Amino acid sequence: KRLILIGPPGSGKGTQSPIIKDEYCLCHLATGDMLRAAVSAKTPLGIKAKEAMDKGELVSDDLVVGIIDEAMKKPSCQKGFILDGFPRTVVQAEKLDEMLKKQGAKVDKVLNFAIDDAILEERITGRWLHPSSGRTYHTKFAPPKTPGVDDVTGEPLIQRKDDTAAVLKSRLEAFHKQTEPVIGYYSQKGIVANLQAEKPPKEVTVEVQKVLSS
Ligand code: AP5
Ligand code: ZN
Repeated sequence: KRLILIGPPGSGKGTQSPIIKDEYCLCHLATGDMLRAAVSAKTPLGIKAKEAMDKGELVSDDLVVGIIDEAMKKPSCQKGFILDGFPRTVVQAEKLDEMLKKQGAKVDKVLNFAIDDAILEERITGRWLHPSSGRTYHTKFAPPKTPGVDDVTGEPLIQRKDDTAAVLKSRLEAFHKQTEPVIGYYSQKGIVANLQAEKPPKEVTVEVQKVLSS
């Protein structure tokens, strides 16, 4: 299966991805995670992306399309993938279609994490992240066994630099302006499934499983 997860910051894309990934043995490509790794390693890509990310603005289409083009060549991504955080503009969606067409493939399903903006601030400001695995926790909704420590590895958790109420405002603005049209793009193709993303994590997982098995 070739899946796309679309939703505003904090809607649960990164929370559901690992579950879907394990269940369907797909490769998981999260452009935000890849960009954050590049920023902390100070690669040329990371240096170019940092300023926009810190402000909660989108990184240029060319940069992210380049990352995805490279990542999708991996043998593990040939049979299927989950894209989390890509495409985020209509230009990115068109480029993705072009890339897949060359392989005789297409996007199967777009999961739209529908949620009210008002819920997102609490989710974002309470988030803790284990950077190397991508595992996320929340002080209230999904606390780790020991505060500040990853359950699996015992390594420290971090908070994302863009996870403040102020930067969230710009991220939401970018979502409504630039990413919502992408949902329209895929609706025309009849492949969008709407999820009620304000439900508790396990219930969202059940909704995802229903869509994917239908
Ligand atoms: P990215 O990393 O993609 O951030 P985002 O889209 O803002 O999404 P988040 O990771 O914040 O949300 P999520 O849906 O994954 O939430 P999560 O599951 O963790 O992008 C970051 C930046 O990179 C962008 O701003 C941009 O600059 C750049 N970028 C990335 N891709 C790009 C692209 N294609 N083009 C251009 N620029 C790009 O959940 C959040 C919290 O809520 C967690 O603490 C979790 O435990 C909790 N939670 C999750 N689900 C529930 C639930 N059902 N109930 C209660 N709590 C929940
Ligand atoms: Zn995420």
